[in-house]
Amino acid sequence: MRSTVPVPGSREIARVIADWFSRGARDLPWRREAVGDPGVRRDPYRVLVSEIMLQQTQVSRVVERFDPFLAHFPTIDRLAEADEASVLAAWSGLGYYRRARLLHAAARHIQREHDGRIPTDPARLAELPGVGRYTAGAVACFAFGASVPIVDGNIARVLFRVFDRRAVQGDAADMRWAWETADQIVRASSGHVPIPAINEGLMELGATVCVPGEPRCSRCPLAALCAGGAAGTANQIPSPRKTTARKSVFCSTALIMDRRGRILLERRPSPGMWSLMWQAPTLEREGVRRHAGAARFAAWLGVGVSALERLARFRHQTSHRTVHFECWRVRLDASQARPISASRRWVEPGELPGIGLSSPQARMIASAFSASSPRRGSPRARTLPR
Ligand code: ADE
Repeated sequence: MRSTVPVPGSREIARVIADWFSRGARDLPWRREAVGDPGVRRDPYRVLVSEIMLQQTQVSRVVERFDPFLAHFPTIDRLAEADEASVLAAWSGLGYYRRARLLHAAARHIQREHDGRIPTDPARLAELPGVGRYTAGAVACFAFGASVPIVDGNIARVLFRVFDRRAVQGDAADMRWAWETADQIVRASSGHVPIPAINEGLMELGATVCVPGEPRCSRCPLAALCAGGAAGTANQIPSPRKTTARKSVFCSTALIMDRRGRILLERRPSPGMWSLMWQAPTLEREGVRRHAGAARFAAWLGVGVSALERLARFRHQTSHRTVHFECWRVRLDASQARPISASRRWVEPGELPGIGLSSPQARMIASAFSASSPRRGSPRARTLPR
């Protein structure tokens, strides 16, 4: 049954949110105010980088990686002029590496087409590689103060609940409704309430109070205005979408060190998952239900089975796949060592931070170098520290 609670007024919501945000926003590295340039609230380059990083990645992880990335590439020009490998390396740990390539391409586009200055107009911003309506709006609004709506997952959830819309996760019609509602709020508030504080406040509320699952309504500034809260439905909104099963991939990975303490790595093919990133030699199987098994893996590597010691198994989820890793230490004696193919090379430990590794590979490779791990013991199902 639909709630009979009156639908709250757009400007009232905006006022409460902007006020709440201006009093209690988290201090995040990309939120620092710009100084000097009139019409610029925040450094647009920092806003662009942070918004791309924040797509599908948790704030806490972005907080860790943001300043090191900016130290590597302090300006849009430095990013545009960098080679792709160094951009991917600096992106390490953030996952979804396609975003790093697109950000790099966007920097080159800005250098070529806009003289190295990030455009202020959302329509121009949306022409950049990797920049959709949300990111274009976020940069225009947070950096330049544009009066545009933005909707991400957090904002959509807040709006669905406040208006008691029984939305389904990821549903296209519900998302259209969220954009229209956000637009209505911005129009009703323009000239009365600062738009960046509304947009970022809604986002902040979704991230910290109106969280997925059970919302923290007792701490919510919108509690008195929330139709979903009054109807008792907020914790069921949005309802989960029917999921399609992720594909399973089974990877057997070989940690092979030489006497000088270097590790053998290879480059992944392109296109595909983790395209062109480095990894310890990995036999990957799709459309099967288990790992290759020691004998097959040893044959693939060109070593005897006795050279293998199984260290760990763990699972890694990507957006479309569950990747099951099995990680082996391989002891080579001189007679076993097979020639290194062109796509493989020995890598010094000191080089590792500078080459692009996916997070599961970084996790396995770190275990190869750590003194305490790998340890001997049960050959089954040990997991590795993250
Ligand atoms: N997620 C996306 N953009 C964000 C921002 N500017 N602050 C916090 N979380 C975000």
